[in-house]
Amino acid sequence: SNMIKVAVVGGEGIGPEVTDQSHRILKWFSARRGVPVVLREAQYGLIPYLATGKVLPDDTVEAMEEADAILWGATGGPETTQVPPAARKAGSLLSVRSKYELYANLRPIVANPALADSAPLKAEVLKGVDFVIIRELTSGIYFGEPRGIETLPDGQRRGFNTQQYTTSQIRRVARTAFELARTRKGRVCSVDKANVLETSVLWREEVTALHEAEFSDVELTHLYVDNAAMQIVRAPAQFDVMVTCNIFGDILSDCAAMASGSLGMLPSVSLGPPDRLGRRKALYEPVHGSAPDIAGKGIANPLGSILSVAMMLRMTLNRPDDATLLEKAVDTALAAGARTADIAEPGAKRLSTQEMGDAVLNALDKVVGRE
Ligand code: NAD
Ligand code: IPM
Ligand code: MN
Repeated sequence: SNMIKVAVVGGEGIGPEVTDQSHRILKWFSARRGVPVVLREAQYGLIPYLATGKVLPDDTVEAMEEADAILWGATGGPETTQVPPAARKAGSLLSVRSKYELYANLRPIVANPALADSAPLKAEVLKGVDFVIIRELTSGIYFGEPRGIETLPDGQRRGFNTQQYTTSQIRRVARTAFELARTRKGRVCSVDKANVLETSVLWREEVTALHEAEFSDVELTHLYVDNAAMQIVRAPAQFDVMVTCNIFGDILSDCAAMASGSLGMLPSVSLGPPDRLGRRKALYEPVHGSAPDIAGKGIANPLGSILSVAMMLRMTLNRPDDATLLEKAVDTALAAGARTADIAEPGAKRLSTQEMGDAVLNALDKVVGRE
């Protein structure tokens, strides 16, 4: 059948709260726009652990296995302490990323003009911000061996991890960056720490070699990661596509969230390698985590998750017009003053997570009603 399968895994903390809203949006596109999607909800975290002994129970593994795309909420939080480390590790988000080789993590950062007054950065700094951080997601220090904590002969303990990259791991994510840049403003900035780290020396050499061999039409620049962090805050509008290793991408994307107004605004997709038919397993999730400080209050911003659905419509469901329709609906809601607490100006009315979902759905209904 030509139905596309999506596993919906809300997870922990605010994960299910925001995913409930993006799930409603997906159902709307199925019902109102005929998007050929089959949705299967599955559990993750403490609740299935208590019932089955696994944070990622077999039913959820099966749902993700058969899915073309996964809509993920968040993992982590205080519940974590109730799950033994081995069980948590066995079903971790990192293990999912690794299992499906989701090596290319795209994190777009767009400054919505409606949020200029509530954002921590000045309106003039935010003008024209529209870039994508591509984070390598299945290698680097997150996965390198050896790793561990050992006790030394003098009784001290020593923790250690291994930053590592191979040629092919660098080249495939750099290829993603160059190809994406060709569809945008044609500029790639590669971020590393080649003044100190051998992995970064190799990173820079391989990115440069691939650029010369196949992508000389794209402009390539390099920044050291410390400078990159500063530039993202000083002048974020200068960037088009930024590509970097796993840990630098993690840190820089939370930093870059301030160029959109809130961490709650940022969507992402993590892409695996193409199969024989050119299809890529994809996991869509907001960039933020489980936000234990606001979990359970129903006040989290669902737009990062909702905008991840827009990415899904474009990249997995092959419905670019519907993706644009959803992005426009978010713009409409924001332009009309819809604000969750994280993007509200002092004194402004604060919507709940659900009400923000309603605002986007209302905007969608209006557009489709007019057709
Ligand atoms: P976090 O991203 O959960 O929260 C950081 C800050 O941003 C908090 O103040 C939070 O309230 C705020 N925030 C985040 N999302 C928001 C939203 N949608 N609306 C409004 N405010 C929002 O980071 P943390 O507190 O460092 O981590 C909490 C847990 O989440 C940890 O266990 C961490 O490992 C995990 N985590 C998971 C993912 C994921 O599932 N992909 C990503 C990041 C962190
Ligand atoms: C993210 C998160 C994860 C990461 C954590 C939860 C392991 O911070 O997706 O950005 O570091 O990759
Ligand atoms: Mn992170």
